[in-house]
Amino acid sequence: MSDNNIFENKILDSDTTKDTLNEILKIQKRCGLSKWTIKDYKNEFNRIDSRQVIVTVHKTIVGFAVMRLIIPYQTNGTSNLFFEEAEIFNIAVDPKLQNRGVGKTLLEKLVAVSLSSGVKTIWLEVRESNYKATNFYKKNNFYYIYTRQNYYQSPSENAWIMKRNLE
Ligand SMILES: CC(C)(COP(=O)(O)OP(=O)(O)OC[C@H]1O[C@@H](n2cnc3c(N)ncnc32)[C@H](O)[C@@H]1OP(=O)(O)O)[C@@H](O)C(=O)NCCC(=O)NCCS
Repeated sequence: MSDNNIFENKILDSDTTKDTLNEILKIQKRCGLSKWTIKDYKNEFNRIDSRQVIVTVHKTIVGFAVMRLIIPYQTNGTSNLFFEEAEIFNIAVDPKLQNRGVGKTLLEKLVAVSLSSGVKTIWLEVRESNYKATNFYKKNNFYYIYTRQNYYQSPSENAWIMKRNLE
C-alpha cells in the first residue's frame, strides 16, 4: 500500500451514481464525520465551484474529499473562471485503510485541482481535539492560523482554522 500508483483517482461530477454516494456515506459514518445526506452531496457536486476527489482500491472507494472554490475571478482575454482560494469541507479515509498514505494522496489531488483553478490558498477547519487530523494537516504543509471558539456543536468544541499556501 506504500505505492501510491496503485490508487486510481478521479473527480466526481453531477453524474455520480447512487452506489458511489452510498460508499461515501459509509466512510463518513465509519469516521464519525458530520452527517451530510445523499442530497447534501448531490447539491454540493452540482455546484460549479465544488471539487471532489476519491481514492479507490480495486474499484472500492477507500477515501474521499470535498472542497469548495471561493472568490472567483477572470483573467483578461479568457472566459475561464479562476478562484483565489479553496476550502476543504470534508476529508475521510476508511478507518481500515488509514495510515497508508491515502489521506496524503487525497490532499495532493486537491492541491492539483486547486492549482489548475488558480487557487493560492487552501483553508480548512478542524476540531481542536482531532489530533490525528491536525497532525496530518501539519505534516502536509498546513499551518494553524487561529481558533474559532465553540464553533462545533454536539459536542461543543473550538475549531482550528488552518491554511496552506500554494504560491
Ligand atoms: C485525517 C485522515 C483523513 C488522514 O488520512 P490517512 O489516510 O490516515 O493519512 P495518511 O496515511 O496520509 O497519513 C497519516 C499517517 O500515516 C503515515 N503514513 C503514510 N503513508 C504510510 C505508509 N505507506 N506506511 C506507514 N505509514 C504511512 C503518515 O506518515 C502519517 O503518520 P504520522 O502522522 O505518524 O506521520 C484520516 O485519519 C481520517 O479519515 N480521519 C477521520 C475523519 C477526519 O477526522 N477527517 C478530518 C476532518 S477535518
